[in-house]
Amino acid sequence: MNSVKVGLLGFGTVGQGIATILTRNADEITRRTGRRVDVTTAAVRNVAKAEAAASAAGVDITITDDAMSVVNNPDVDIVCEVMGGEQPALDLCLTALAHGKHVITANKALVAMHGNTLFAAAQKYKVMFGFEPAVAGGIPVIKAVREGLAANRIESLAGIINGTGNFILTAMTDQGRDFDDVLDEAQALGYAEADPSFDVDGIDAAHKLTILASIAFGMPLKFDELMIEGIRDIKQEDVVHANELGYAVKHLGIARRRDTDTGPAVELRVHPTLIPQRQLLANVHGVMNAVLVEGDAVGQTLYYGPGAGSEPTGSAAVADITDMVRAMGSDPSHQVPPLAFQADALQDLPVLKPDDIECGYYLRITAEDKPGVMADIAGIFGRHNISLEAILQKEPDAINAADETTATLLPIVLLSHKVREGEMRAAIAEVEALPCVPSPVTLLRVETL
Ligand code: NDP
Ligand code: HSE
Repeated sequence: MNSVKVGLLGFGTVGQGIATILTRNADEITRRTGRRVDVTTAAVRNVAKAEAAASAAGVDITITDDAMSVVNNPDVDIVCEVMGGEQPALDLCLTALAHGKHVITANKALVAMHGNTLFAAAQKYKVMFGFEPAVAGGIPVIKAVREGLAANRIESLAGIINGTGNFILTAMTDQGRDFDDVLDEAQALGYAEADPSFDVDGIDAAHKLTILASIAFGMPLKFDELMIEGIRDIKQEDVVHANELGYAVKHLGIARRRDTDTGPAVELRVHPTLIPQRQLLANVHGVMNAVLVEGDAVGQTLYYGPGAGSEPTGSAAVADITDMVRAMGSDPSHQVPPLAFQADALQDLPVLKPDDIECGYYLRITAEDKPGVMADIAGIFGRHNISLEAILQKEPDAINAADETTATLLPIVLLSHKVREGEMRAAIAEVEALPCVPSPVTLLRVETL
């Protein structure tokens, strides 16, 4: 079967992320979709710059400065719009749809402002229009709300949905850094919009909330009716005062159903918000995003992950591509395989035995308080090449110490670095065989995640 061909409109932060993922994970993606997916062409303004980026990333792709040639190319099956802005992105997407191509966009401004037109065109030409990368970067929140929570009446959602803004707020709060300096860093990392005032003035978050609210409540996109405030006026002292009161200051997008005297309505608002420090959302830092969704059946669910960046956003775009390629197949069993991969592409990976797992360990050893005990124990771990991160020798147990008929017992707590479980078990067996260790060693595993 021929491979599916992807054409990119834009080859910047997100475009390069998509091309890199499709190239690096080509075999894995083929196992999921049943067909090979090749990114063949990308349109930009500065061809030489994009060719240098493609070569540095090891991506074999034709670069052009004629974007219309990508959407008119009969060999392109799926178009990914990752150039940003309303025009020419809108005309290019509409042309691609009219030519029967599936279209994906990361451009939330485009979806929030022109989504109703684009969805109608996709329906008219019987093609798919995907926009998972447009909201919350790498978090598959569109799929979660649209499909995973389909049983629910969604009551509300609240989210940190601008990575740049959260990156700035976190650095101001934790490091006392200056607003402009942190914004420069967010731009250098590729998180910020072409016009960063969209990030700091709440417009980007409002674009995303517009999209989320429509999916949550089944209403048309209404960007113009949102209440929008950004983070520009937040002062360090307000963050400090809020912290003293037990709150964190976060920039939130909030969509909530309301029953009013005149009937059902919704609140749609984007603004800096004090939230209790114990809330999970209060602990979402840096470029990370999180969206809390409340459904009448499921209750509260939380979706967390990187809200911006090249490969995280590319990940969401490639997920949309994967959905489209599966749906393009004529065999319905290929569309969404129950185990995510095509049945004939499952790989029989061996599951490691418990002795072969690797992690860190917390050990509590109870030993007699005699000279040389620590040296004996440390010697055993040394012989097994187990490196210790910390050793804590606790005071003898008070009741135990008062009993002069028996030896005083001493709790020793050890934290090890990552090691094979079999090696740790062998060392523990030797420790337990020491005459000065009268009882079994307590073992807990440590994962830094
Ligand atoms: P970049 O500025 O990094 O890249 C934009 C790309 O589009 C460049 O290759 C640029 O070419 C090209 N381009 C822009 N305008 C035109 C045009 N008129 N004709 C042809 N090519 C054009 O942007 P990003 O990759 O960061 O963002 C792209 C889109 O993805 C935006 O809509 C953004 O909101 C969205 N997005 C971005 C995320 C991120 O983390 N950066 C995350 C989620 C969504 P050239 O360089 O030659 O000008
Ligand atoms: N500028 C956006 C952000 C990119 O910082 O969240 C991801 O949509």
